[in-house]
Amino acid sequence: MTAAQARSPSLTVLGIETSCDETAAAVVRLDDGRAEVVSDVVWTQIEEHAPYGGVVPEIAARSHVEKLDAVIAEAMAKGGLGFADLDGVAATAGPGLIGGVMVGLMTGKAIALARGLPLMAINHLEGHALSPRLAAPLPFPYLLLLASGGHCQFLAVEGLGRYRRLGSTVDDAAGEAFDKAAKVLGLGFPGGPAVERAARDGDPRRYPLPRSFLGQPGCDMSFAGLKTATMRAAQALPDGALQDRADLAASFQAAVVDVIADRAANAMDMAGDAAARLVVAGGVAANGPLRARLEALASARGAEFHAPPLRYCTDNAAMIALAGAERLTAGFTDRLDAPARPRWPLDAAAAAARPVHVPGRKGAKA
Ligand code: KG4
Ligand code: ZN
Repeated sequence: MTAAQARSPSLTVLGIETSCDETAAAVVRLDDGRAEVVSDVVWTQIEEHAPYGGVVPEIAARSHVEKLDAVIAEAMAKGGLGFADLDGVAATAGPGLIGGVMVGLMTGKAIALARGLPLMAINHLEGHALSPRLAAPLPFPYLLLLASGGHCQFLAVEGLGRYRRLGSTVDDAAGEAFDKAAKVLGLGFPGGPAVERAARDGDPRRYPLPRSFLGQPGCDMSFAGLKTATMRAAQALPDGALQDRADLAASFQAAVVDVIADRAANAMDMAGDAAARLVVAGGVAANGPLRARLEALASARGAEFHAPPLRYCTDNAAMIALAGAERLTAGFTDRLDAPARPRWPLDAAAAAARPVHVPGRKGAKA
């Protein structure tokens, strides 16, 4: 990373996101710390991966190659902008499926090189961490639960580039567990919204499923045991059995919510000043019952609760453009040889001290 010269207060940045199964481009204007989403285009590959019940990396990378140029052109056209109107280009440089990351990062580099613009190589997780600031002003520090298909962690977000990981899943991400539960219940992909829908008609007390780490110190999480127990219960169901399936979906979701709420209470105890604001981001933050429980927790402790609009919870390029604009404002840009990185922890020190990645494990969106 190199320090660039201080820029004018109003910056317009193109963001590019291709780390998983969304091909996305967006333009964000940052004016005196206030973000305006000028355009926000997301082309989802969900249908291409649906037959496989999870994201197939090779299909994802090829699809990004096919779609990205058009998605960028659409984002620029919707904003009524030409490349000459941009102050910089931000592209996700990891972590993610490496083929897709390379497609987006190379494209960002090409635009930066051709137009003489600064490049910001963005950590996808930093994009999620800052995403709540797209919707409304949100001052640092805050406590963030980042829960998506590939990640599940509590972070104290202390400032731009200053993230303290307080705890994380020791096995599967919560979204991965939702996707798996949906698969065994025959609910389709992606799993989260399908499980939430099915759970509305179900009895959450019907199946007593495991709640790992509940009541224990710290804020690490585990969902592998719950995933396996849900799978066993689903396999024991007779064909059809719609009510049983709804009950199992509801029981599964209740277990996830119980675990996350219990861990979030401890995370608030550990977060210091950041505990004044509890924020959720990542695809799983779209879950209604989870939001409601965390909102109640925050309010019981006199903390603010922030949940970005759903379109900023799931993968998008506006959060990448915002991270890029904030970095550009702070004078941080990257060289054109910035690498694409399959793994890239936000808090490198915590990741080195307590690695949580289990080699070989692949979630739907890991
Ligand atoms: O952040 P995201 O779009 O992609 C990454 O993983 O980076 O998150 C997608 C994940 C999927 O696992 C999906 O099943 C989950 O978020 N998800 C949900 C809901 N909507 C999406 N999980 C629970 N309830 C939902 N309503
Ligand atoms: Zn994501």
